[in-house]
Amino acid sequence: MRGTPFFIGLCSLLSSQFSHAARPNDLNFTAEEVEKYGCGEKCQANLREGMKTDREIFGGYPFDHDFYAIASNFSDAKPGDVLKFEPFNVSTLSIPPDLTAYRIQYVSTGMDGENVPATAFITLPYMTYPGQKPRLMAFAHGTIGVTSSCAPSSSYNFYDYYTWIMLAIAGYAVVGTDYTGLGNNYTAHKYVNCVLNSEDTYWSVIAARRAFPNTFTKRWAAMGHSQGGGAVWGLSENPRVTGSESGEYIGGVALAPSARVFDLSLESAKYHELSGEAASAKFMPLIAKGIQAVNPPSTKIDFLSDAAEKRSELIDKLQLCLQGSGSVTEDLPLAGVKSPTAFQNSDQLKDFQKKYGAAQGKKAFRDLLVLQGMADETVNYNATKIAYRAACEAGNSVRLSLYPGLDHRPVLTASVREWMPWLDERFRGVASQQKCVMHTWKPLLGE
Ligand SMILES: *[C@@H]1O[C@H](CO)[C@@H](O)[C@H](O)[C@H]1NC(C)=O
Ligand SMILES: *[C@@H]1O[C@H](CO)[C@@H](O)[C@H](O)[C@H]1NC(C)=O
Ligand SMILES: *[C@@H]1O[C@H](CO)[C@@H](O)[C@H](O)[C@H]1NC(C)=O
Ligand SMILES: *[C@@H]1O[C@H](CO)[C@@H](O)[C@H](O)[C@H]1NC(C)=O
Ligand SMILES: *[C@@H]1O[C@H](CO)[C@@H](O)[C@H](O)[C@H]1NC(C)=O
Repeated sequence: MRGTPFFIGLCSLLSSQFSHAARPNDLNFTAEEVEKYGCGEKCQANLREGMKTDREIFGGYPFDHDFYAIASNFSDAKPGDVLKFEPFNVSTLSIPPDLTAYRIQYVSTGMDGENVPATAFITLPYMTYPGQKPRLMAFAHGTIGVTSSCAPSSSYNFYDYYTWIMLAIAGYAVVGTDYTGLGNNYTAHKYVNCVLNSEDTYWSVIAARRAFPNTFTKRWAAMGHSQGGGAVWGLSENPRVTGSESGEYIGGVALAPSARVFDLSLESAKYHELSGEAASAKFMPLIAKGIQAVNPPSTKIDFLSDAAEKRSELIDKLQLCLQGSGSVTEDLPLAGVKSPTAFQNSDQLKDFQKKYGAAQGKKAFRDLLVLQGMADETVNYNATKIAYRAACEAGNSVRLSLYPGLDHRPVLTASVREWMPWLDERFRGVASQQKCVMHTWKPLLGE
């Protein structure tokens, strides 16, 4: 399926504006259109490449506008309510073929506690042993973009890169939220927002239980990567997990988490001497959107150059996802960052981290296991260490395991022998002895 266009007579579902595109992000641009945003030849080449890579995320899977549109009964619903519930035809997806898969639209909560529609996928394992119920895992995905066309549930494999599929293969039932603003466009996506992304994750669990009553274990846990690692860290500090409405939350696994984006930007810039080559520089237009999403939309971003801000308008215009968004500022000096001291002087980044970051001195309610590669070009491990120390100072129980030589994605599979048994123990009810501890592993072939 990967990379193969997959069009199934969907024309009637598509809005007229994109009548010739299978997905809202399958757009083409002319030089004239993008030059208005200051995107010259080099920028156009990067953009073309970025959009191509974005398309590969979805594998040509059609975007079902009907499903992502707000449900007619949204206005009377409560958080955790299921608004839409549909099975997938698994043979149209590229996922382990024994699974059954569904998608739901449900109600989450927004920045002022208001109800917001969100969508999620759910997978069920083929079986459990007699007398057992499938264990329920909430999966929190990593960066895929900020525009509504970038929903993981609209991808041919639900945006797997050895992430949620590891849980499914281990026999867990998985609910994977898209987060609000991805898929449904009722509100702007709250990018790298540990507080609000944890809300979406929390309510996805309640919605999954309402969609499948009495199906799952009472115990549930969460696992997330990158942005989703931040969501899981936020979940451990979200007082909702102490209640019984969701069942019994038993802890979370945060892989390469973006818990504190001010520190992250700063540490990464320090390491790369703001060369603009840092992979994380690619995330700055997205982080700017994350800040705008909790401020008036026209808020001027204090760490982006004017040129970068202008070009960022292309993200919405062309419905860019992860790679496309990163490509618009790639050829600018310092990749569009205003100056070498722009991050450390950014009040917006500081405020955002304080308000919506994790490991800000809040009390955590459950254990957290954090796994981090030491050659991570996206989430700098020194920033994760800062978050770890802040959490421990607040009296929380965090285990941080460092993996020398590993970049952002390899840590997912490299650490499976550590986090899978950790989850298994929590589900079996083994009392946690975890205290704050930091450990550095040794790779087989040395480092
Ligand atoms: C964009 O261009 C590609 C090939 O260059 C083409 O296959 C596709 O249909 C075009 N998309 C739209 C929306 O015109
Ligand atoms: C939001 O989505 C609806 C239906 O899915 C669409 O009709 C509408 O144009 C979209 N609004 C924006 C601002 O993109
Ligand atoms: C909303 O409507 C759908 C479709 O009719 C239904 O399945 C769902 O249960 C309703 N949800 C609520 C909360 O009323
Ligand atoms: C599921 O998709 C496959 C592949 O496109 C198709 O052959 C099959 O008829 C579909 N099944 C149903 C029940 O729609
Ligand atoms: C992490 O911090 C140490 C100590 O300050 C420094 O030597 C190292 O270069 C930093 N590494 C990265 C990837 O930022």
